[in-house]
Amino acid sequence: MFVCLCHGITDKHIAQAVREEGVGNMRELRKQLGVGSQCGKCVQLAQQVIDNTIVDE
Ligand code: FES
Repeated sequence: MFVCLCHGITDKHIAQAVREEGVGNMRELRKQLGVGSQCGKCVQLAQQVIDNTIVDE
């Protein structure tokens, strides 16, 4: 599922960044993948994906 259309980032990309790159919040995700740096519509969903991935571990 695409989370950030501006950058073509899926929930899997985000989960991978959390697990493998140590991304723990939106600021780090934006730095890493650019998520939320254009229209910003994806921020809420991206945050949820981060939270769910952290809870899953
Ligand atoms: Fe993520 Fe636009 S959809 S910045």
